[in-house]
Amino acid sequence: MTLRIDYTNMMGDIIKGGIVAADWASAPDAFRRAHAGLDRRRDAGELGFLALPTDDALHRQSTDFAAKAKAKFDDVVVLGIGGSALGPIALRTALLKPAWNSLTANERDGQPRLHVLDNVDPHTITALLGRLSLERALFVVTSKSGGTAETMAQYLVVRERLIQAKLDVKDHLVFVTDPKKGALRQIANDEGIAALDIPPAVGGRYSVLTPVGILPAALVGIDTVQLMAGARDIAGRCANAGDALTKNPAGLFATLQHLADTKLGRHIHVLMPYSDPLRDIADWFVQLWAESLGKHRTPGDAGVGPTPLGALGATDQHSKVQLFMEGPPDKTVTFIAVAEGGAELTIPKLHSNVTELGYLGGHQLGELLSIEQRATAGALARRGRPNMTMHIDRVDAWHLGALFMLLEIATIYAGELYGVNPLDQPGVELGKQFTYAMLGRPDAEQARQEWNLLPKPDARYSV
Ligand code: PA5
Repeated sequence: MTLRIDYTNMMGDIIKGGIVAADWASAPDAFRRAHAGLDRRRDAGELGFLALPTDDALHRQSTDFAAKAKAKFDDVVVLGIGGSALGPIALRTALLKPAWNSLTANERDGQPRLHVLDNVDPHTITALLGRLSLERALFVVTSKSGGTAETMAQYLVVRERLIQAKLDVKDHLVFVTDPKKGALRQIANDEGIAALDIPPAVGGRYSVLTPVGILPAALVGIDTVQLMAGARDIAGRCANAGDALTKNPAGLFATLQHLADTKLGRHIHVLMPYSDPLRDIADWFVQLWAESLGKHRTPGDAGVGPTPLGALGATDQHSKVQLFMEGPPDKTVTFIAVAEGGAELTIPKLHSNVTELGYLGGHQLGELLSIEQRATAGALARRGRPNMTMHIDRVDAWHLGALFMLLEIATIYAGELYGVNPLDQPGVELGKQFTYAMLGRPDAEQARQEWNLLPKPDARYSV
């Protein structure tokens, strides 16, 4: 089991446009301070996600519930948004068979289908509820705060459908929320609805290894013990390395990205797995990096933070890679390369006398994918475009757990390096308040007044 970061193509002595010696020389000191910052936050009890891989009691909440419940259901539907949805989506794409929800029960080894409603678009929700058999459906309502408008709206729609179908809501609902606070917890306590815990010190986007991700995973038969083992391994590696920058993979990732942004003007950080199963981990990372790092250092300043972007190899070689190669030199690309691609599929030796086809015959598809990744990394390096590669052996629960934990720890280090709090998200508050104001939430009076003062659409600027 390995997770290795090759950052050769980030370095100025290797590629034109890489990190220069003087900046690299100052990196260990900056990282020492960042590491001390992480230690401070951990000691203050703010980094609950670090303890998750060894929290067996919390892990058991999910596995015990799943063991009792899963045979009763053909469909598991996660209701949630942001950090409450992107982890389950990434897990589903990475660790279940492709097109899982279209397979027969037999092909799914008797495990339920898994749907994640990560939005409030009526188009999607109506279609899903229309095709589910509610008698055989479990709804996992996931919200750390227990009051997010989108998730609560999804829940209300679902609850009414269950009531209309004359089903006992307690048999079809489970909540995943804060152990004490919030409306969901209150409803669970009042009505005896099952509720699993998101520990208070674990924020939404750091919660994939709580019941947020582990409950849906356990319900569909994913090996959650291995997920935790991978996470534990990388957390241990980072803890053992401590402030020794070049031994700490999370520290290295954060430091290289931060240096690239602040010293080389590479503000856009691309995560590009060469693997279909890992495509949604890019989305998960985008939320983690964006919501954690894009913010003011001091009230009213211009703001800092990189712009994360997801891409997929080899697909995006015919799309975004043109921009990465020749567009503004404002990006780094982090590839995820998988050594064993899973299924072996040999390209047949047909059309051997046609130049464009003949050379492909006899190679493996996985080999083609891997060669294309190396070719793209090399081509970027040749053009002075910094990039690095995370190598993993295969896409399985262990490596996914390791990737989640690596990127979460890296985000805390990056927060320290940028001088921002990676655990809050004050910037999304105003939009939420305006939404409450327009929907008539009683405690949104101040937002309503502010909203009414905003300029209204001007006919001169409308076509
Ligand atoms: O990372 C975060 O904290 C957010 O993206 C939340 O996950 C998102 O806003 C949903 O919040 P909640 O889980 O409280 O419903």
